[in-house]
Amino acid sequence: MSMEEEVTKCGKIHDVLAEHWNWAYYDTPHGECSWLLAEYVERLKEDVERRVPVMLKELEELVEEYPSDSFSILDVGCGVGGFLHGALNLLSKKHKEVEFKTTGIDISREMIDYAKTNLQDTGIELVCDSITNQRLKFKNEPFDAAILMVTLSFYNDENSKEILRAIHNKLKDGGFLLILDFAWTYIWSGFKLFSKPLQSLTDTFFSHLIGESFHFMNRTEDELKELITEAGFDVKRAYLSEKKSKMKGMLVIRAQKK
Ligand SMILES: C[S@@+](CC[C@H](N)C(=O)[O-])C[C@H]1O[C@@H](n2cnc3c(N)ncnc32)[C@H](O)[C@@H]1O
Repeated sequence: MSMEEEVTKCGKIHDVLAEHWNWAYYDTPHGECSWLLAEYVERLKEDVERRVPVMLKELEELVEEYPSDSFSILDVGCGVGGFLHGALNLLSKKHKEVEFKTTGIDISREMIDYAKTNLQDTGIELVCDSITNQRLKFKNEPFDAAILMVTLSFYNDENSKEILRAIHNKLKDGGFLLILDFAWTYIWSGFKLFSKPLQSLTDTFFSHLIGESFHFMNRTEDELKELITEAGFDVKRAYLSEKKSKMKGMLVIRAQKK
């Protein structure tokens, strides 16, 4: 599938989900859901509450390892702006000596509209576009660090590499990319008996949301690392955000631009 087709499908999915993501981060009300969507929404808030602190810690470590009077951050697929909101709150209080310059980009108009409301008066640059648009020029580029949370799984391998290369172009030499995404866990990655129904449930869910077929990519740790390396990064560390997860976990990766 072409990049344009996948971007369009992914944008549609997140236009539908935006109010639920806003609820997960900001407790705002959301409308009635079908039973399938309700299953997803039920887990979303807990997932967000578990993932965000892990990524905030990763980002904070980078800021502390590379002291400077300014630090620029690009959040790719920033959604409703929840991560940037949390990051600025935490970092600007803890590191008053540092000027944080932040940008968020998202293809979903609904997501960015929520982000604009949530982040008003913060000075964060917000752009509604695909990171793969080669004409993009951000106010804060090149960046010290980029964040990519739960986004690569919506793209096939070729398109994922294009997204990673686009991020690579927007980073300073030696800049960092922090990724959090789904991965089949080590122990169960070859165990197809359970992974197949789980895959088809996820595909059914997203296809149901947009009324057309959609395939969600589930990769192993090695597959994710290979994509990142082929896009010009060195993988510095990778670990599961929760050790107890059995089949599917959240993989956290720190990569550096070569
Ligand atoms: C599952 S959501 C996660 C949102 C946010 N990263 C978070 O964890 O709170 C993935 C987001 O990536 C956005 N996205 C997907 N492809 C993108 C692209 N090519 N460029 C910019 N944003 C993209 C989607 O619209 C969606 O809002």
